[in-house]
Amino acid sequence: MKAIDIRNKYLKFFEKHGHTIIPSAPVIPENDPSVLFTTAGMHPLVPYLLGEKHPAGNRLTDYQKCIRTVDIDEVGDNRHLTYFEMLGNWSLGDYFKEESIAMSYEFLTKELQIPAEKLSVTCFAGDDDAPRDTISYECWKKAGIPDERIYFFGKDDNWWIAGEEGPCGPDTEMFYDTGKPACSENCNPSCGCGKYVEIWNNVFMEYFKSKDGKYTKLAQKNVDTGLGLERMTMLLQGKQTPFEIELFAPVMEKLAELQNQDFIQSRRIVAEHLRSSMMIINDGGRPSNVERGYILRRLLRRMTRHLNKLQINLEKLPELIDVSIEALQEMYPELLKNQQNIKNVMIEEKDKFMKTLAKGEKEFEKIVTKLKAEGKHKLDTQTVFNLYETYGFPPEMTLELAEENEMQVEMTDFDKLFQEHQAKSRMGSEAKFKGGLASNGEEETKYHTATHLLNAALKVVLGQHVHQKGSNITAERMRFDFSHPAKMTPEEKQQVEDLVNNWIAEELEVTAEEMPKEEALQSGAECMFIEKYPDRVTVYSIGEISKELCGGPHVKNTKELGHFKIQKEEASSSGVRRIKAILE
Ligand code: ALA
Repeated sequence: MKAIDIRNKYLKFFEKHGHTIIPSAPVIPENDPSVLFTTAGMHPLVPYLLGEKHPAGNRLTDYQKCIRTVDIDEVGDNRHLTYFEMLGNWSLGDYFKEESIAMSYEFLTKELQIPAEKLSVTCFAGDDDAPRDTISYECWKKAGIPDERIYFFGKDDNWWIAGEEGPCGPDTEMFYDTGKPACSENCNPSCGCGKYVEIWNNVFMEYFKSKDGKYTKLAQKNVDTGLGLERMTMLLQGKQTPFEIELFAPVMEKLAELQNQDFIQSRRIVAEHLRSSMMIINDGGRPSNVERGYILRRLLRRMTRHLNKLQINLEKLPELIDVSIEALQEMYPELLKNQQNIKNVMIEEKDKFMKTLAKGEKEFEKIVTKLKAEGKHKLDTQTVFNLYETYGFPPEMTLELAEENEMQVEMTDFDKLFQEHQAKSRMGSEAKFKGGLASNGEEETKYHTATHLLNAALKVVLGQHVHQKGSNITAERMRFDFSHPAKMTPEEKQQVEDLVNNWIAEELEVTAEEMPKEEALQSGAECMFIEKYPDRVTVYSIGEISKELCGGPHVKNTKELGHFKIQKEEASSSGVRRIKAILE
């Protein structure tokens, strides 16, 4: 079975069980510049897991394009991917454990025809925060999994949360037995030896973990599930690695044909980073030196480095892009529309990187000349690391050049420095995820409404070309990105501030109305990413001055907002300005 067939089977199956199919959100979270990438299907649904009403109902299913960068340096082995597709089904306060487990079992054994004896499952063992999940255990037994293939583990294995704070709960995980021999007497799904491969995770989200580490019950019991499509495809096709399935195989073959040096790891890295970068660029990402742009840059540079390692002429890049898109177009037809654009971005970045390498070499020569003048013949670890961190100069290039220059290289602590560096960026991305979670406190709700007022005021003062490009809200402030070509003058800022404060003083009512998407658009409602919305949408209106498709939540009347004040107006990216504002 091909990946697309598994995806289609999955969506149809859950549709048959009363779920509405919703579109994948972009890998770059919209409306949320504070989060690096969409890392799981639940990410775009957080407000609905917390109780907001989803316009498509309370049973949803989708495929979600995901990027996980934590393991970026592991890519090249036989399993890690940066980009992957997650199939998911959600209950937003509707069904819970029993129905969820019954449907999973039916899908795996009937639709995918996985022999029941190949399945093992794990359940949450219980601790001070939440009880042992005996209900899931009973459900699995009822479905037909015998005792000896049901395991209980603690929070490390059977509890799911994105980051440190947010909706969470015990999960039950399904594992596929690859048939490899057991690694020991105690071999089990969590031992990591490779005998058991996790294929699906059903999270029973009924808790909220707050910053102080406390767990409270959510207003509703949710189910959030995630099935990794590439992995499932690989298993069903009897392949050993995802690089052998049809989404990667043509690129892997092309690389083998073009290469002058044979490195399987490098071929995997090129194939994977090519696909993940394309998906990021396709959803609007561009390489830069900060945050998600930097991740994209790293992916593209690592890819280029490994093309060099394979001794493949970099002029072949467009051809490789074509082969990869050909393999992916059935799943992501949008790539075809963007093919030229993707090529342009990738080629430009490759050219830049070649210049960086040249600069790094120059810097290397400077350092070596100086050391030699001092009679030294050794580069210390810190220097190698600095070349890597500051110039993006890969350590293996430093080693190569050092050898040519008859210099020794000390690398003893490189891994330590590198891990510290990685830990820092990892902490950064986790903090980002946390920051991006929509929390719907009273203050945040006020800022949501103020965001709509600001959007409307900017249109009046600057013109109808103003469109929202992003927004981020905390309990303390709002940040709003919008299209506008120039810095705002002090007068313009004053006018916008006055206008918003006038509307607040006018005590305008905020109303919500559900309607078909088409009707909403025809009524002139504002909307950032129309493809993201299901067929029925909620439109929030503020008096006569603003109308936007939005998930809310909002205050009932603008009089609740207090006084609006712009603190800063600055450039965000080319053609996009950013306003930071507060309510006092
Ligand atoms: N949110 C769960 C996961 O990502 C399903 O594994």
